[in-house]
Amino acid sequence: MAILVTGGTGYIGSHTVVELIAAGYNVVIADNFYNSSPEVLNRLKTITGKDIPFFKCDVCNKDEVEMLFNTFNEIDAVIHFAAYKAVGESVEKPLDYYENNIGGALCILQAMKRHNVKNFVFSSSATVYGDPEIVPCDENAPANGATNPYGWTKVMQEQILRDMCVADKSMNVAILRYFNPIGAHPSGLIGEDPNGIPNNLLPYIAQAAIGKYPSVRIFGTDYPTPDGTGVRDYIHVVDLALGHVAAVKKLFTNCGLVTYNLGTGKGYSVLEVVKAFEKACGKTLEKNILPRRAGDIAVNYANPAKAKAELGWSARYGIEDMCAHSWNWQSKNPNGYKE
Ligand code: UFG
Repeated sequence: MAILVTGGTGYIGSHTVVELIAAGYNVVIADNFYNSSPEVLNRLKTITGKDIPFFKCDVCNKDEVEMLFNTFNEIDAVIHFAAYKAVGESVEKPLDYYENNIGGALCILQAMKRHNVKNFVFSSSATVYGDPEIVPCDENAPANGATNPYGWTKVMQEQILRDMCVADKSMNVAILRYFNPIGAHPSGLIGEDPNGIPNNLLPYIAQAAIGKYPSVRIFGTDYPTPDGTGVRDYIHVVDLALGHVAAVKKLFTNCGLVTYNLGTGKGYSVLEVVKAFEKACGKTLEKNILPRRAGDIAVNYANPAKAKAELGWSARYGIEDMCAHSWNWQSKNPNGYKE
């Protein structure tokens, strides 16, 4: 028995591999290093003490995926992370996003069908809620509100999975809607290593704190929130990884299709996050107040009650640990996985 983790050398994938192994599962990683580094495999070995089977493979390549399933015939669940994830880039290159994200998922699901693998965890996103009318946002909120092609690939893939489960009652699928993952493994060996200028708040703050940027960018101070900056539900990537372990256990109870929010239930503003990071790194950071970023919403945070009730999972780390672990990773690896 083994769990296939596609995109297993990526940010969330690598942390999930660690927690799966800690929970006693055998893991197979498939990745093509499109947005990750082979160095992650060395770091995973250091953390877990295991040589984790790895298969270099593009999830959109039918022949490679077939070879993957033929090589590891003990796979009985798949956690599918491998996808493009940059919101802005998806607006510029929509066809690439639809082709890679939807094509990759279909290729994996077709291979699972051929090889009679029935258990699938899907990386979805709170982005499917668009600008939610009610916060905290629960799983019954309309989930068809994407505002960019990346988000639409998540909405569409969720629909594909629901249609598949109607047609095949033997499938078990967990759709996990992530809020804003930040932080890093407490060891500082693995963490987030974005290509180029980071889009997301935390890696940008962390890189400003090591001196790569003169200031942190604050996108908008006129939102209808207590301090005027955007509010999000930041969740420690290790808690998110543990949510995947809980979801895999649930699949093995023959649960059919289930959908869960993975968030903490608590929202923090951009300025509150910057303050928490300043405490973690012991420096005061210069703030550059800018206009709102196109497409951003004011507030979103999760109601995570369903995951707690049905998976027995809830987030344990608070914002202080998230920032401390993010700083630990960034200060030990100023250039990420690059030499
Ligand atoms: N922000 C800044 N400065 C920055 C970057 C971001 O002020 O340099 C602000 C944004 O305006 C927003 C908040 O920080 O208010 C969070 O922004 P992120 O870019 O970190 O995250 P988003 O909430 O925009 O999007 C993230 C992921 C998406 C995912 C979504 C789910 O990037 O992939 O969460 O809600 F879909």
